[in-house]
Amino acid sequence: MPPTFHLLATTVLLLLLLHHRILATDLPEFQEAPAFRNGEECNTTRIHIAMTLDATYLRGSIAGVFSVVQHATCPENIIFHFLTTHRLSSSLRHTITTTFPYLKFHLHHFHTDLVKNKISISIRRALDQPLNYARIYLSHLLPDTVHRVIYFDSDLIVVDDVVNLWEINLNSHVLGAPEYCHANFTHYFTPKFWSNPHFSGVFNHRDTKPCYFNTGVMVIDLMKWRRHKITEKLEKWMEIQKKYRIYELGSLPPFLLVFAGDVEGVEHRWNQHGLGGDNVKGLCRDLHPGPVSLLHWSGKGKPWLRLNSKRPCPLDQLWAPYDLFKHAPLISDS
Ligand SMILES: *[C@@H]1O[C@H](CO)[C@@H](O)[C@H](O)[C@H]1NC(C)=O
Ligand SMILES: *[C@@H]1O[C@H](CO)[C@@H](O)[C@H](O)[C@H]1NC(C)=O
Repeated sequence: MPPTFHLLATTVLLLLLLHHRILATDLPEFQEAPAFRNGEECNTTRIHIAMTLDATYLRGSIAGVFSVVQHATCPENIIFHFLTTHRLSSSLRHTITTTFPYLKFHLHHFHTDLVKNKISISIRRALDQPLNYARIYLSHLLPDTVHRVIYFDSDLIVVDDVVNLWEINLNSHVLGAPEYCHANFTHYFTPKFWSNPHFSGVFNHRDTKPCYFNTGVMVIDLMKWRRHKITEKLEKWMEIQKKYRIYELGSLPPFLLVFAGDVEGVEHRWNQHGLGGDNVKGLCRDLHPGPVSLLHWSGKGKPWLRLNSKRPCPLDQLWAPYDLFKHAPLISDS
């Protein structure tokens, strides 16, 4: 081969490689998870799980998925529904298929324009990413053939067979979640809300006392959700918020307004929340007493960030075994 041709070929090859790297490395890279197979006792029941997927929480989402399939007796029965923005969807699809080659999943595009003009300017901006609101639109995003779905946040791991959560009886309710009736409900809404009976009267006709629940773990009957037009009800409260400022937080209060006092209580083991810690009570939290099926790093800190900075909390060591992170993007645009 003449030397100039050789040089040309090498250059072209290099350019191609570089181009590929740019495409493939705008997200972190993960190790491939092993295949998880159904046990002999498994039938063909389907379990639907929805999670959001974005660049910031990707490492958490991957760990969450890994924890779910690892503890399931029938992992092949689980279908993941990833809610994502259009911009990243092809890179994310690549990440999921290379990390979990055997996973059954769908990507659903959430059009953030749907909520952008409904989100009021919040004090805690970080909580107000448009993708946080995607859970409001599950019934629109998922096909009608999906009748029930579990929604999981991206900062949690499941350490139990998820079928035990999937099979809870929702009775007459649209939504099931662990409830926390000791939390003082007053704090979630502004004085403007409580002083206006048109607003605060919403809690007067509920089945039971309205209690706080965390929207990071929910079991949802999508058929009932559609029938009761829940999405429209949540949107209505978001519009009221924009005009009157009836709460301080982002996507949680509309759920409290529509559901609190009308929730099917799920065992607390399914949301050991708050492990992210906060600035008031200190960074590291302990588990709540009782059994644990799901650990949730809600709050300010995230285990992957603390592990990165070599200052983990003791409980972050329970997250670490599910971390498939290999390395950060080689070329990053962020
Ligand atoms: C399939 O398996 C699940 C979980 O083990 C069980 O609850 C369900 O009743 C079974 N369904 C059928 C149709 O046998
Ligand atoms: C809840 O907080 C409000 C306002 O801080 C207070 O007035 C009320 O007494 C509290 N309720 C309970 C049950 O602690």
